[in-house]
Amino acid sequence: MCGIIGYIGHQQVQNILIDGLHRLEYRGYDSAGIAVLEGGEIGLRKKAGRVQELGQLVSEQPLQGSMGIGHTRWATHGEVNDANSHPHLGGDGEVCLVHNGVIENYSKLRKALQAKGYEFHTATDSEVIAHLLAFEVKRLKEDGDSEGQALYVNAIQSTLVQLKGTYGLAVLFEDCPDKLFVARVGSPLVIGIGENEHFVASDASPLAGHTDEVVYLSDNEIAILSAGDLQIIHRDAGAVNPKIEVLDQQAADSELGDFPHYMLKEIFEQPQTIENAMRGRFNDDEATAVFGGLNLTAQQLRRIDRVVLTACGTSWHAGLVGEYLLEEFARIPTEVEYASELRYRNPPMSENTMIFAITQSGETADTLAAMRECKRKGHPTLAICNTVGSTIAREADGGIYLHAGPEIGVASTKAFTSQVTVLTLLALFFGRMRHLSYPAGSRIISHLREIPELVEQALKCNEMCKYVADKYYNSNNFLYLGRLYNFPVALEGALKLKEISYIHAEGYPAAEMKHGPIALVDEQTPSVFVVPRCGIYPKVISNLEEVKARKGPVIAIACQGDDKIAELADDVIFVPDVEEYLQPLIASIPLQLLSYHIAVLRGCNVDRPRNLAKSVTVE
Ligand code: AGP
Ligand code: GLU
Repeated sequence: MCGIIGYIGHQQVQNILIDGLHRLEYRGYDSAGIAVLEGGEIGLRKKAGRVQELGQLVSEQPLQGSMGIGHTRWATHGEVNDANSHPHLGGDGEVCLVHNGVIENYSKLRKALQAKGYEFHTATDSEVIAHLLAFEVKRLKEDGDSEGQALYVNAIQSTLVQLKGTYGLAVLFEDCPDKLFVARVGSPLVIGIGENEHFVASDASPLAGHTDEVVYLSDNEIAILSAGDLQIIHRDAGAVNPKIEVLDQQAADSELGDFPHYMLKEIFEQPQTIENAMRGRFNDDEATAVFGGLNLTAQQLRRIDRVVLTACGTSWHAGLVGEYLLEEFARIPTEVEYASELRYRNPPMSENTMIFAITQSGETADTLAAMRECKRKGHPTLAICNTVGSTIAREADGGIYLHAGPEIGVASTKAFTSQVTVLTLLALFFGRMRHLSYPAGSRIISHLREIPELVEQALKCNEMCKYVADKYYNSNNFLYLGRLYNFPVALEGALKLKEISYIHAEGYPAAEMKHGPIALVDEQTPSVFVVPRCGIYPKVISNLEEVKARKGPVIAIACQGDDKIAELADDVIFVPDVEEYLQPLIASIPLQLLSYHIAVLRGCNVDRPRNLAKSVTVE
């Protein structure tokens, strides 16, 4: 959660910070603030609300200077108000910082600092870091053993060892006007290297357009940035050689273009993003998939006898589709674990269990912790990840990138279909190592190749989705029902609606409904049935009839040419017909569009839904 931006160089910093915060706003949007250091003075502007409001404030009360830090907050400790907004000052204002993460022992530290006379002005956990830094600087100055940069580095080191929890930090010291200090444990930070200037940010999106040379900071590292120099030290192990990587991201990737919302833009990108997830990954001669980064030998892969897919939210739903695919095509027993549970559970895992962490951001704290726990136990642990250079991507033993481009809308859409695409390729790959024949492999490849075009066709249901949304957007409850491959689609449809329109929605396997949820069916509760043609189509139709019999309105997602469904359902959204195992890639499109239009009609902020943040880097 939360976005951090920092700059030191030769340009006026205010607009760089505000522009960076706009790009990071998807990470948190409770409040925003910037601080600029100029002539030994720290100028501060911060405000509850969106970055746009902060932009307004700084245009009325501008800050001059060429080094500064900024923050967009997703509150964990302390309510959303101006005072709790970052940056926070420490001591008498001689230290200023922004923080991403949670300081678990803040209460104890706060009391100790208060006892020493430090006055707190906020209810955040972050403010203790600022005062602790001020205290350590003062102590070291009094000791007289260190000076200049060394003094500030020592102060940071002795502060950090006292913190329990997670942090990404960017710090300015009033008396050190040519250095910007950053540090991390558990919260991401990336440094951008420009011409006589340096940037720091929570992810690479604000750096695109400024520089394409980046250094990803690792846990326990501290970086000292000046206009012309970058030094990195490990908290305990001394100097680290910065590993410079090239950023493959254009500023335009994060721009809205002609779309009113990122979510809609990203829904419409899916023919391309699915194509990108498949590009270069087919081996037609061997009728299988190829991956560059699994980092395991064929023998090691052949020995895998169980797969655990771990993830949160939408990525967990993609994992459920993955379970069905891997079990059907590769016959490998597969389980899907909520990362937040797996990190503290201790399920039996055979020696040859392989773990895949599925994540769009690559920064989700629960997924990272579950992955680390599995790695610690010695299992091969791989990532299916969208964000290049993210913590999970870097810490995994190997992995598969989605190549979907930045996903800005808080409600995940294109990442889901890219994850499902990659999982289909993975099932093909493992299947061809085991039971799947050459012709079966070839068939899967040719079906997959048709998908981008079929998704393009599926997007034509947009107008119909708008019409259906208009009819039902005032409902207070929705049911989403599907079977087999469409059960995870139903769960994902319900999550999309909940997230952005605040309507209560539940997803169920269609036949489970009669074991309880059917009690919810009434004339005001629409049921969305995902009912494309499949082996058990007549069974799903029976479930649909059960709802009709109780006067529940039915919206069906069905295959083009299905005349029967039109007689049964109140409304039908038609999509192209595909093989059963590929239906999630098609059927999720109308569900994404339906929730989008319902949210718009209800006047909700589609891209910035309340209480959520794009990347959940706290537990
Ligand atoms: C999706 O719409 C959500 N906002 C959320 O459930 C998300 O999928 C989850 O937090 C996992 O994120 P990740 O894929 O970045 O790890
Ligand atoms: N824990 C801090 C706060 O509540 C930082 C939260 C964040 O990462 O945005 O202010």
